[in-house]
Amino acid sequence: DWTMGAYREEMVAKIKDQVGDKKVICALSGGVDSSVAAALIHEAIGDQLTCVFVDHGLLRKDEAKEVVGMFRDNMNLQVIHADETELFLGELEGQSDPETKRKIIGKLFIDVFQKYADQIEGADYLAQGTLYPDVIESVSFSGGPSVTIKSHHNVGGLPEKMGLKLVEPLRELFKDEVRALGRELGLPASFIGRHPFPGPGLAIRCPGEITREKLEILREADAIYIDQIRKHGLYDEIWQAFVAILPVRTVGVMGDGRTYDYACALRAVTSVDGMTADYYPFSHEFLGETATRIINEVKGINRCTYDITSKPPGTIEWE
Ligand code: XMP
Repeated sequence: DWTMGAYREEMVAKIKDQVGDKKVICALSGGVDSSVAAALIHEAIGDQLTCVFVDHGLLRKDEAKEVVGMFRDNMNLQVIHADETELFLGELEGQSDPETKRKIIGKLFIDVFQKYADQIEGADYLAQGTLYPDVIESVSFSGGPSVTIKSHHNVGGLPEKMGLKLVEPLRELFKDEVRALGRELGLPASFIGRHPFPGPGLAIRCPGEITREKLEILREADAIYIDQIRKHGLYDEIWQAFVAILPVRTVGVMGDGRTYDYACALRAVTSVDGMTADYYPFSHEFLGETATRIINEVKGINRCTYDITSKPPGTIEWE
């Protein structure tokens, strides 16, 4: 009689056994896998676990506050909020090539994680939210270099480089089982059902050069779009939805005057695993209402388009 409750107890015992009185560090992204891994390990060893939340300044509106707040204040985990916005945006300044942007972010992510991890005295273990499919398939799933510690480990070996042993309590689980375990551990349903968010964050939803102004506009527009999707009860039907800010400004009218602001693209897809995807068939009413809200409420956007590209030939993200 196998239940998630029994699995939870078994894993807690295993983690205690493996780690003993040593310390564990974990890169917490706010994604389902790293969140569930952190919650489980915390249940086993409490404050012997420290999480590092690397904030590259490319997160969505209020995301850092929400993730750090939940784990630190509601769940009592030790979380370091590594706010390295200046470092990341500084290095990205003037860069518009997609691969270059990803490489810069991936490298800095590792550097930053390592810097904070080095400050935690006596850490012997690195926790990772590796799932069973990651174990059996070592290929990169997104077609581009990922910035997660996990994929980096797959290709390069960060734990070896840092002299750390691995704790991977989700190695036997599939995604739906990880979600069930997360519920079992008391993570909020809204958290467990969240759409995937890529490691490079808003950088790949801001094609071309990244500026603080564009990121700010993008955050506001994205928050309204997701709010609309939730209000219409569509969030759980959609694999992933987001706004991309386009590297072009176009002319519009407002009152008696003309505007010259950015155009944006709304994206929403259905998918089973992210490998293939279809665009989501929103009603025209939904699209019209959402475009009107974004254009009226977000200063800096005066035109809204809907991306109807499927994958393949498109990708889900814009870069
Ligand atoms: P694409 O854009 O390649 O994305 O169709 C497929 C899925 O993967 C996510 N994605 C990433 N996730 N690091 C990640 O952790 C990355 O570098 C990355 N690139 C894309 C994307 O959001 C989608 O869910």
